[in-house]
Amino acid sequence: SAAEKGGHDYFMLKEIEEQPEALENTLRGHFHDGGIVLDEQRLTEQDLRDIDKVFVVACGTAYHSGLLAKYAIEHWCRIPVEVELASEFRYRDPVLGRDTLVVAISQSGETADTLEAVRHARTQRARVLAICNTNGAQIPRESDAVLYTHAGPEIGVAATKTFLAQIAANYLVGLALAQARGTKYSDEVAREFGALAAMPDAVRKTLGTVGQMRALGKELADSKAVLFLGRHVGYPVALEGALKLKELAYMHAEGFAAGELKHGPIALIEDGLPVVIVMPSAKGRALLHSKMLSNIREIQARGARTIVIAEEGDETVRPFADELVEIPAVPTLLQPLVSTVPMQVLAAEIARARGYDVDKPRNLAKSVTVE
Ligand code: AGP
Repeated sequence: SAAEKGGHDYFMLKEIEEQPEALENTLRGHFHDGGIVLDEQRLTEQDLRDIDKVFVVACGTAYHSGLLAKYAIEHWCRIPVEVELASEFRYRDPVLGRDTLVVAISQSGETADTLEAVRHARTQRARVLAICNTNGAQIPRESDAVLYTHAGPEIGVAATKTFLAQIAANYLVGLALAQARGTKYSDEVAREFGALAAMPDAVRKTLGTVGQMRALGKELADSKAVLFLGRHVGYPVALEGALKLKELAYMHAEGFAAGELKHGPIALIEDGLPVVIVMPSAKGRALLHSKMLSNIREIQARGARTIVIAEEGDETVRPFADELVEIPAVPTLLQPLVSTVPMQVLAAEIARARGYDVDKPRNLAKSVTVE
């Protein structure tokens, strides 16, 4: 009923708007006595200190959140991180040992491939840490440590608030590791946690783009395809934007690393093709920002319709944006928490304009317990 949807036309929009609370609830209580605390912890401090390799395994949207974990963990902990689709990881012969940490990310905690990846890791004596939104699900039950995302139940098949909560949880894991290994002091961890804790407000502010994205969604409903471009942490966001559009609007969509344009994808650009671009921070990532500006110039010259998600006050991008979507300026690693939001709304609105059920897309199930 409309009441269950909190007055919204569909659950997904309600869940998009619940993202600030999902983040607040996920962060709550995890910084205590000068350090990061997990929900369940069956590993010793020494175990954590000894970790010399991290594998992140997940499927779909959870995998996209995992890609972001790599940027944070390598930067903060100086430990090599590989991110892999659970369905690939488990059938490969990954090199694992007692000092390997496998981070399994799953909203449901029941995804068959992710669960089997966890089991495989354990037979190789690797340590397993689960990030999960469902209390007591199978994956956390079989893990050595657990961090629960507290996004609340997600009714829409398309993951939204659980994605943002997973990103935050990944960063908490990164900080916990950095702390255990001594690559970050307590005051630095406190500062990073403080930056994370400011994100619910930034996301709240970003919800100001909902109206703009709904209108744009209606305009783009007849497009044949949409491309998404990002760099650095904007790249996983581009992949997620494309996945949302595929699953909801049944529209061909691809996410690319902008640096790859010249290596193939630029051939796809034609007159009127909508391209969504996640702009790196002008201050935080000046070099990447200028590279992205030239990418936009190139595709615009070839007729693309550019939809640019950029920090508010980023005037340099204005001349190249057919549609400018402004998001708050936040620290680089945290930008995905805001840049994802307009893409979620865009995908949902394109789907609606095409007459589809946003909460129950065809052929998809909320949790994939068979391969
Ligand atoms: C996301 O919108 C999809 N519903 C899907 O990719 C999902 O993220 C994936 O199936 C993983 O599910 P899980 O988090 O429950 O493991």
